[in-house]
Formats: sequence, C-alpha cells, structure tokens
Amino acid sequence: MARLAVNVDHVATVRQARGTIEPDPVLAAGIAELAGAEGIICHLREDRRHISDRDLRVLRQTVKTRLNLEMAAVDEMVAIALEVKPDLVTLVPEKRMELTTEGGLDVLSKAQDYKEVCRRLRDACIEVSFFVDPVPGQIKAAHDCGADIVEIHTGRYADAATQDEAIRQFERIRDAVSDACRLGLRVSAGHGLTYVNIKRFGRISGIEEYSIGHSIVARAVIVGFEKAVRSMVELVRDF
Ligand code: PXP
Repeated sequence: MARLAVNVDHVATVRQARGTIEPDPVLAAGIAELAGAEGIICHLREDRRHISDRDLRVLRQTVKTRLNLEMAAVDEMVAIALEVKPDLVTLVPEKRMELTTEGGLDVLSKAQDYKEVCRRLRDACIEVSFFVDPVPGQIKAAHDCGADIVEIHTGRYADAATQDEAIRQFERIRDAVSDACRLGLRVSAGHGLTYVNIKRFGRISGIEEYSIGHSIVARAVIVGFEKAVRSMVELVRDF
C-alpha cells in the first residue's frame, strides 16, 4: 500500500498568473489532507515563481501530515529549511529558464557539496531525499551522501512517445527501485505521473510514496480538489 503526497505548486501558479491572493495553496493542502493525502509538497524556487516564503511558513504551521520542501542545494535554501524545519527536504536541480524540473540531480558530479548539505539538514533532524534519475550510479551516490530516501524521476517514462519506450523507461525505474531498496534507501517516485500512466506502477513494489502535482491540479479545476485527490489516493493505495 503506497502513499500519496500532493504537490501544491500549481495552485500557486494560478494565483501568480493574476498576482492576487487566490487560490491559496495552503487551503488546497488542507483539503488534500482531508481527502487522504499523507504528505504535502511545495517547491520554493529561487525565482519564487509559484510558492512564496509566506506559503512555506504557513504550510509549516498548518500541515498535519508531512511537509516536504523541494529545493535546490544552495545556501539560501538550506538556511530557510533550517529555520522553517519541514519534515523532509527533497534536493532537486534547478535551472532558471526551465518550465519544470527537467531531470534528476547529478549527484556524482558534486558529491561533496550534496554530502555537506545532507549532513546539515540531517543534523537538524530533517529527513533528506535526493531526486535522481533511474541510474544505478546516481542512486549509489545518493546513498553515499547520506540520503534517507531517493525519489526516482519518472519524467522520461511519463513523456515516452511510444508504448515500447514507456516500457523501456518503466523497466529502468523498476530496476532502480530494486537497487535503492538493496542499499537500504526508502523510495518514492514522481514527475509527470497521471491518473492513466500511474497504473503500471501497480506491478512493482518498493515505492512507498508518489509525489504528484500537475495532474491532480489539472483535474481539480474540473471536478474539485477534494475529488481529484481522493481519486489518486485510491489508485496508489492499491499498489
Ligand atoms: N517530484 C519532483 C522532484 C518535482 O520537482 C515535481 C514537480 O514539481 C514533482 C515530483 C511533481 O511533478 P508533477 O507536477 O508533474 O506531478
């Protein structure tokens, strides 16, 4: 039985489109929890394009499940995390011009830096997850840096143009989950997952939590936030 953690960034994206105060990602997070989500995720970006510092601080006061802060491994964000104390930090790569996170961390190329950031967060009793591509070397490097969790990047699976490619990408994810479990890491997965493409994940075990944002917010616009979250909770609970 896997858990759903809901990313509320895109609720804030709609707010920022008009520069007003609604919709409020904090309210969406509360509804998501009432609908069965077991975690709330927000990504505080350097450019503050959606989630704001205020959102993060109010979410820290109101989230009753687990608050997962996605962030780049830079000093500004580490200082914020040490002050706000989310339950969990997910380290992600961040490029200014990207539409969304484009791939996993290259842990191998900056292992010393990631190790140090991980140590500072863990010393403050914040769990640390590394967002990585389904590549054995990156998973091993995350483990060696002291990660508690790896979040496997599912974006290439989600974006596959053909069924054959989707199967190939899914097999990479399946093997990565096995590698991570063998190393004693906890495993989550996310990026680009939808009500349709997530169904294949019912065939593998080892993934504790799914991190999903855009597809839920997109459906919520049509059917309401609570219903959209509840439908996804029911899908992942069967895995
Ligand atoms: N996991 C990580 C690390 C992400 O950066 C994102 C996007 O913010 C997600 C999961 C959720 O992706 P999506 O919005 O496509 O469901």
